[in-house]
Amino acid sequence: MPIEHPSRRKVLVTGAAVAGAVAVPFIASAQSPLVVKFSHVVADQTPKGQGAVKFKEVAEKKLPGKVQVQVFPNSQLFGDAKELEALLLGDVHFIAPSLSKFDRYTKKIQVFDLPFLFDDMEAVDHFQSTAQGKALLDAMVGRGLRGLAYWHNGLKQLSTNRDKLTRPEDVKGLKFRIQASDVLEAQFRALGANPQKMAFAEVYQALQTGVVDGQENTWSNIYSQKFHEVQKTIAETNHGVIDYMVVTNAKWWDGLAADVRKGLSEAMAEATAHSNKLAAEINESDKKKIADAGKAKIQKLSKDDVAAWRKAMEPVWKKFEGDIGADLIAAAQKSNK
Ligand code: LMR
Repeated sequence: MPIEHPSRRKVLVTGAAVAGAVAVPFIASAQSPLVVKFSHVVADQTPKGQGAVKFKEVAEKKLPGKVQVQVFPNSQLFGDAKELEALLLGDVHFIAPSLSKFDRYTKKIQVFDLPFLFDDMEAVDHFQSTAQGKALLDAMVGRGLRGLAYWHNGLKQLSTNRDKLTRPEDVKGLKFRIQASDVLEAQFRALGANPQKMAFAEVYQALQTGVVDGQENTWSNIYSQKFHEVQKTIAETNHGVIDYMVVTNAKWWDGLAADVRKGLSEAMAEATAHSNKLAAEINESDKKKIADAGKAKIQKLSKDDVAAWRKAMEPVWKKFEGDIGADLIAAAQKSNK
């Protein structure tokens, strides 16, 4: 009779196969690799997609036969409405939601959503490397989430199905898809528009069918999801940031064998450097591809236009200062040159 062994990673072979032997079970030493699942919602050719692919490559090289990393892009395994829950349940091991999607777990992280807080991606990168920025990686451990790294995407642009999109008044009364973030909701309300929280995987169809009139996103997300094919104008507002935190289930991570955790940490560091180096390049080249496709017009803005958007969105800062903390906002602001 084969007996059940507690370790699922060992292969049980019964001694009955051995001629003349008493049926004594023994454990073969063959070990199957630990399967690690990385799920995300964007395409492979985006900065996050490339980071996940690199993580797999490096982790499997550093831990040969010990770890197998499975990457699931494009909301194939979990969309962003479910991925955090799935991580906490142990159904997936790494996810990298946009920083806008954590506000149920920590209010502090809302700092990244404040409109016009960062002048450019260098400022975002700098803030993430400061003590206050790094502390946010550990801010959700009590809720079971351990942040391992920040990954860049880029600055957000605003798009609509209208011809004119240069001033805040052009979006009054329009419906916008937003990520699940209260700050972003307030941002669109401040503009007199109607925000609607929606999972990333549903945005293309919502734009195509007119369920919403517009959205905000990076060039790489707009291009890889083909939003430019169902929008008329994309204004180059650079009004906010989409960046990511790679998170894992804190309990699962702490329970890993030390050598596996070390190998995965090193792979994460390499994947982070790789993805962050590529992010600006991918966004720049996707912007060009959008322009070349000639479907949506790219609307450049004057300094005066940008100042008008900034002023219209300003009330959001005061509204969230209490939750985020004035000190954290000041620290982030200091990262601008
Ligand atoms: C979005 O929902 O628009 C983005 O957060 C998607 C992503 O992960 O870049």
